[in-house]
Amino acid sequence: MTRSDTNAVEVRGLVKHYGATKALDGVDLDVREGTVLGVLGPNGAGKTTLVRCLSTLVVPDAGTATVAGYDVVRQPRQLRRTIGLTGQYASVDEKLSGWENLYMIGRLLDLSRKDARRRADEMLERFSLTEAARRPATQYSGGMRRRLDLAASMIGRPAVLYLDEPTTGLDPRTRNEVWDEVQRMVAEGATVLLTTQYMEEAEQLAHELTVIDRGRVIAHGGVDELKARVGGRTLQVRPVDPGQLPGMARALSDSGLAGVAGATVVPDEGLLYVPILSDGQLTAVVGLLGERGFGIAHIGTHLPSLDEVFLAITGEKTSAAASGTIPEEVAA
Ligand SMILES: Nc1ncnc2c1ncn2[C@@H]1O[C@H](COP(=O)(O)OP(=O)(O)O)[C@@H](O)[C@H]1O
Ligand SMILES: [Mg+2]
Repeated sequence: MTRSDTNAVEVRGLVKHYGATKALDGVDLDVREGTVLGVLGPNGAGKTTLVRCLSTLVVPDAGTATVAGYDVVRQPRQLRRTIGLTGQYASVDEKLSGWENLYMIGRLLDLSRKDARRRADEMLERFSLTEAARRPATQYSGGMRRRLDLAASMIGRPAVLYLDEPTTGLDPRTRNEVWDEVQRMVAEGATVLLTTQYMEEAEQLAHELTVIDRGRVIAHGGVDELKARVGGRTLQVRPVDPGQLPGMARALSDSGLAGVAGATVVPDEGLLYVPILSDGQLTAVVGLLGERGFGIAHIGTHLPSLDEVFLAITGEKTSAAASGTIPEEVAA
């Protein structure tokens, strides 16, 4: 992974109003070259508006933003040449085949016919779409379309890639495929600004996180830092015999393992909760309980939801949860 201290994206005091709506209300953020910044926020937080400003599709009312050193307002043409964009909704032309979509984008990016053909072939291969290359995109599954979308955003070899809720509305298997692709692109040196509503996605993909709500940054930090602030992952253990819960908690606190002091028993649920600080600790806790002869009926882990994260950071529910907004994927 190529990481450096140079910022590929720098945003300062960015403001964008739509009438009375403050979609962006003074946003500051940085994306370091070669890293993934996760922009985490509920529906209506301003994520897409931010991506649109950084893509020159929307002109901000105030503030500044540069991408690869190019100013979004003063150098839109140069800037557009350095970025790739994948939106929440697939932007492929469904009547065309996968190959035709990619070829057309290559031509739009001023590649010669020969180069556009070669690049389309390469990208189809890369995203495992070679077999489906000649079929119209209407016949593609959701996951294939999303991969075609990613391929399209990569045609111009962008230095900086924006992924705006790339997995919203996808089933878990397809979501994992997209995650794998994003991780591969980052391993190959891409800088990524990823927006998401999912804590789990941010944890999987992002090096750093900026949490926004109502157009404002409400928290920023490393994924681990934020997890520590909101309590992070917990392990849930259900013994075969609920009567063993106190004994399990005692065995853990006597063990002196890191983090187990925070273990709590919830008799009504028949569960023991243990805050998890590392994968190693998770293994150690389960191993210890096994060694001590406790019968375990079920173990699971729980990640804080976005709403729990917001509650922990601000003491308030998300604006989406507070106003009862129906999630886009449900409304669509
Ligand atoms: N073109 C637009 N016209 C009017 N209001 C808009 C427009 N685009 C976004 N908004 C409003 O700006 C706010 C932020 O929206 P958006 O950036 O789409 O949030 P997110 O992508 O985080 O869901 C919302 O209140 C939304 O209704
Ligand atoms: Mg959006």
